Amino acid sequence: MKLIAPSILSANFSRLAEDIKLVESAGADLIHLDIMDGHFVPNITFGPKMVSDINKITDLTLDAHLMISEPEKYVEDFAKAGADWISVQYEAASHLDRLIHQIKDLGCKAGVVINPATPIDVLNEILHITDYILVMSVNPGFGGQKFIEYALDKAARLKKKIDAGGYSTFLEMDGGIDNSNIKKVSLAGVNVFVCGNSIFGSKDPAAALKSLKSSL
Ligand code: DX5
Ligand code: ZN
Repeated sequence: MKLIAPSILSANFSRLAEDIKLVESAGADLIHLDIMDGHFVPNITFGPKMVSDINKITDLTLDAHLMISEPEKYVEDFAKAGADWISVQYEAASHLDRLIHQIKDLGCKAGVVINPATPIDVLNEILHITDYILVMSVNPGFGGQKFIEYALDKAARLKKKIDAGGYSTFLEMDGGIDNSNIKKVSLAGVNVFVCGNSIFGSKDPAAALKSLKSSL
Protein backbone atom coordinates (compact mmCIF):
# COMPACT_ATOMS: atom_id res chain seq x y z
CA MET A 1 0.00 0.00 0.00
CA LYS A 2 1.42 3.38 -1.05
CA LEU A 3 -0.81 6.41 -0.41
CA ILE A 4 -0.30 10.15 -0.82
CA ALA A 5 -1.86 12.38 1.82
CA PRO A 6 -1.78 16.07 0.90
CA SER A 7 -1.54 18.20 4.05
CA ILE A 8 -3.83 21.22 3.83
CA LEU A 9 -1.54 23.13 6.20
CA SER A 10 0.08 24.67 3.11
CA ALA A 11 -3.21 25.20 1.25
CA ASN A 12 -5.01 28.54 1.04
CA PHE A 13 -7.62 28.42 3.81
CA SER A 14 -9.66 31.15 2.10
CA ARG A 15 -10.34 28.77 -0.79
CA LEU A 16 -9.92 25.47 0.93
CA ALA A 17 -12.81 23.66 -0.77
CA GLU A 18 -11.31 24.36 -4.21
CA ASP A 19 -7.84 23.27 -3.09
CA ILE A 20 -9.23 20.01 -1.67
CA LYS A 21 -11.30 19.32 -4.82
CA LEU A 22 -8.22 19.96 -6.92
CA VAL A 23 -6.09 17.32 -5.18
CA GLU A 24 -9.04 14.96 -4.95
CA SER A 25 -9.46 14.94 -8.71
CA ALA A 26 -5.69 14.65 -9.19
CA GLY A 27 -5.64 11.35 -7.27
CA ALA A 28 -5.06 12.19 -3.59
CA ASP A 29 -5.64 9.13 -1.43
CA LEU A 30 -6.33 10.92 1.88
CA ILE A 31 -6.51 14.44 3.26
CA HIS A 32 -4.04 15.07 6.10
CA LEU A 33 -5.30 17.51 8.74
CA ASP A 34 -2.76 19.11 11.08
CA ILE A 35 -4.37 20.05 14.38
CA MET A 36 -2.13 22.36 16.43
CA ASP A 37 -2.94 23.93 19.78
CA GLY A 38 -0.19 26.50 20.40
CA HIS A 39 0.83 24.47 23.45
CA PHE A 40 2.24 21.12 22.36
CA VAL A 41 3.59 22.88 19.25
CA PRO A 42 4.31 26.59 18.74
CA ASN A 43 1.56 27.13 16.16
CA ILE A 44 -2.25 27.11 16.05
CA THR A 45 -4.37 25.76 13.19
CA PHE A 46 -8.00 24.65 13.51
CA GLY A 47 -10.35 22.37 15.42
CA PRO A 48 -13.28 19.97 14.97
CA LYS A 49 -15.59 22.53 13.27
CA MET A 50 -13.19 22.81 10.34
CA VAL A 51 -12.88 19.01 10.15
CA SER A 52 -16.66 18.70 10.07
CA ASP A 53 -16.94 21.29 7.27
CA ILE A 54 -14.22 19.51 5.26
CA ASN A 55 -15.98 16.19 5.78
CA LYS A 56 -19.05 17.64 4.05
CA ILE A 57 -17.17 18.54 0.88
CA THR A 58 -15.03 15.44 0.28
CA ASP A 59 -15.41 11.67 0.31
CA LEU A 60 -11.69 11.16 0.90
CA THR A 61 -10.48 9.58 4.13
CA LEU A 62 -9.65 12.27 6.69
CA ASP A 63 -6.34 11.70 8.47
CA ALA A 64 -6.21 13.89 11.60
CA HIS A 65 -2.77 14.43 13.13
CA LEU A 66 -3.28 15.81 16.63
CA MET A 67 -0.36 17.95 17.76
CA ILE A 68 -2.11 18.88 20.97
CA SER A 69 -1.69 18.46 24.70
CA GLU A 70 -4.21 16.23 26.52
CA PRO A 71 -5.40 14.55 23.30
CA GLU A 72 -7.69 12.23 25.29
CA LYS A 73 -10.00 15.21 25.89
CA TYR A 74 -10.52 15.88 22.16
CA VAL A 75 -10.37 12.61 20.20
CA GLU A 76 -14.13 12.11 20.50
CA ASP A 77 -14.82 15.58 19.08
CA PHE A 78 -12.58 14.87 16.07
CA ALA A 79 -14.15 11.44 15.50
CA LYS A 80 -17.65 12.98 15.62
CA ALA A 81 -16.49 15.68 13.19
CA GLY A 82 -15.64 12.98 10.65
CA ALA A 83 -11.97 12.12 11.13
CA ASP A 84 -11.43 8.54 9.90
CA TRP A 85 -7.86 8.18 11.13
CA ILE A 86 -6.69 9.87 14.33
CA SER A 87 -3.05 9.98 15.37
CA VAL A 88 -1.74 11.28 18.69
CA GLN A 89 1.76 12.29 19.61
CA TYR A 90 3.54 9.78 21.84
CA GLU A 91 5.10 12.74 23.67
CA ALA A 92 1.68 14.19 24.58
CA ALA A 93 0.03 10.99 25.81
CA SER A 94 0.15 10.03 29.48
CA HIS A 95 -1.86 6.80 29.09
CA LEU A 96 -1.15 5.70 25.55
CA ASP A 97 -2.71 2.22 25.73
CA ARG A 98 -6.01 3.70 26.95
CA LEU A 99 -5.90 6.41 24.31
CA ILE A 100 -5.32 3.95 21.43
CA HIS A 101 -8.34 1.93 22.58
CA GLN A 102 -10.37 5.12 23.00
CA ILE A 103 -9.71 6.04 19.35
CA LYS A 104 -10.49 2.53 18.08
CA ASP A 105 -13.70 2.39 20.11
CA LEU A 106 -14.80 5.56 18.31
CA GLY A 107 -14.56 3.58 15.06
CA CYS A 108 -11.37 5.28 13.81
CA LYS A 109 -7.96 3.94 12.85
CA ALA A 110 -5.56 4.73 15.68
CA GLY A 111 -2.08 6.09 14.98
CA VAL A 112 0.83 7.03 17.22
CA VAL A 113 3.24 9.77 16.13
CA ILE A 114 6.88 10.01 17.21
CA ASN A 115 8.94 13.17 16.98
CA PRO A 116 12.39 13.06 15.35
CA ALA A 117 14.18 12.79 18.71
CA THR A 118 11.90 10.08 20.10
CA PRO A 119 13.41 6.58 19.79
CA ILE A 120 11.34 3.87 18.11
CA ASP A 121 11.75 1.51 21.08
CA VAL A 122 9.14 3.44 23.09
CA LEU A 123 6.59 1.83 20.76
CA ASN A 124 7.60 -1.77 21.54
CA GLU A 125 4.63 -2.60 23.76
CA ILE A 126 1.92 -0.98 21.66
CA LEU A 127 2.94 -1.80 18.07
CA HIS A 128 0.56 -4.77 17.92
CA ILE A 129 -2.50 -2.75 18.96
CA THR A 130 -1.76 0.33 16.81
CA ASP A 131 -3.13 0.66 13.28
CA TYR A 132 -0.29 2.93 12.13
CA ILE A 133 2.83 4.73 13.27
CA LEU A 134 3.61 8.20 11.95
CA VAL A 135 7.33 8.94 11.96
CA MET A 136 7.93 12.71 11.92
CA SER A 137 10.66 13.77 9.51
CA VAL A 138 10.55 17.39 10.75
CA ASN A 139 9.89 18.82 14.19
CA PRO A 140 6.14 19.35 14.22
CA GLY A 141 4.61 22.81 14.04
CA PHE A 142 5.17 24.20 10.56
CA GLY A 143 4.99 23.28 6.90
CA GLY A 144 7.85 23.72 4.48
CA GLN A 145 10.69 22.56 6.74
CA LYS A 146 13.75 20.59 5.68
CA PHE A 147 13.53 16.78 5.69
CA ILE A 148 15.47 15.16 8.57
CA GLU A 149 17.45 12.33 6.97
CA TYR A 150 17.78 10.09 10.04
CA ALA A 151 14.00 9.58 10.01
CA LEU A 152 14.62 7.13 7.14
CA ASP A 153 16.65 4.80 9.34
CA LYS A 154 14.00 4.99 12.08
CA ALA A 155 11.30 3.99 9.59
CA ALA A 156 13.38 1.12 8.21
CA ARG A 157 14.05 -0.23 11.73
CA LEU A 158 10.38 0.07 12.63
CA LYS A 159 9.38 -1.74 9.46
CA LYS A 160 11.68 -4.64 10.44
CA LYS A 161 10.08 -4.84 13.89
CA ILE A 162 6.59 -4.80 12.41
CA ASP A 163 7.46 -7.54 9.93
CA ALA A 164 9.26 -9.62 12.59
CA GLY A 165 6.22 -9.40 14.85
CA GLY A 166 3.82 -10.19 12.01
CA TYR A 167 1.77 -7.06 12.80
CA SER A 168 -0.50 -5.27 10.34
CA THR A 169 0.64 -1.83 11.55
CA PHE A 170 1.48 0.46 8.65
CA LEU A 171 3.87 3.41 8.48
CA GLU A 172 3.29 7.06 7.64
CA MET A 173 5.94 9.76 7.31
CA ASP A 174 5.35 13.49 7.61
CA GLY A 175 7.53 16.51 6.91
CA GLY A 176 9.72 17.73 4.08
CA ILE A 177 8.72 15.02 1.61
CA ASP A 178 9.18 16.02 -2.02
CA ASN A 179 10.25 14.59 -5.37
CA SER A 180 13.88 14.43 -4.29
CA ASN A 181 13.29 12.04 -1.37
CA ILE A 182 9.91 10.29 -1.75
CA LYS A 183 11.48 7.22 -3.36
CA LYS A 184 13.93 6.81 -0.45
CA VAL A 185 11.05 7.21 2.00
CA SER A 186 9.14 4.50 0.16
CA LEU A 187 12.14 2.16 0.13
CA ALA A 188 12.43 2.57 3.92
CA GLY A 189 9.04 0.83 4.14
CA VAL A 190 6.73 3.82 4.48
CA ASN A 191 3.17 3.35 3.19
CA VAL A 192 1.61 6.81 3.59
CA PHE A 193 3.38 9.98 2.46
CA VAL A 194 2.24 13.31 3.88
CA CYS A 195 3.08 16.14 1.51
CA GLY A 196 2.24 19.76 2.27
CA ASN A 197 4.54 22.30 0.74
CA SER A 198 5.56 20.06 -2.16
CA ILE A 199 1.90 20.01 -3.30
CA PHE A 200 0.20 23.21 -2.11
CA GLY A 201 3.35 25.31 -2.31
CA SER A 202 3.49 24.51 -6.02
CA LYS A 203 1.91 26.68 -8.72
CA ASP A 204 0.13 23.59 -10.02
CA PRO A 205 -0.82 21.34 -7.06
CA ALA A 206 -2.50 18.74 -9.29
CA ALA A 207 0.63 18.32 -11.42
CA ALA A 208 2.81 18.27 -8.29
CA LEU A 209 0.74 15.46 -6.81
CA LYS A 210 0.89 13.43 -10.01
CA SER A 211 4.62 13.95 -10.19
CA LEU A 212 5.07 12.73 -6.59
CA LYS A 213 3.03 9.63 -7.41
CA SER A 214 5.18 8.90 -10.42
CA SER A 215 8.38 9.33 -8.37
CA LEU A 216 7.26 6.59 -5.99
C1 DX5 B 1 4.18 19.58 10.42
C2 DX5 B 1 2.93 18.89 9.95
C3 DX5 B 1 2.98 18.43 8.56
C4 DX5 B 1 3.17 19.49 7.53
C5 DX5 B 1 4.04 18.88 6.48
O1 DX5 B 1 4.09 19.81 11.76
O2 DX5 B 1 2.64 17.76 10.75
O3 DX5 B 1 1.87 17.61 8.22
O4 DX5 B 1 1.98 19.94 6.94
O5 DX5 B 1 4.31 19.85 5.58
P1 DX5 B 1 5.56 19.79 4.58
O6 DX5 B 1 5.26 18.66 3.62
O7 DX5 B 1 5.49 21.13 3.97
O8 DX5 B 1 6.78 19.55 5.40
ZN1 ZN C 1 1.04 16.32 10.00
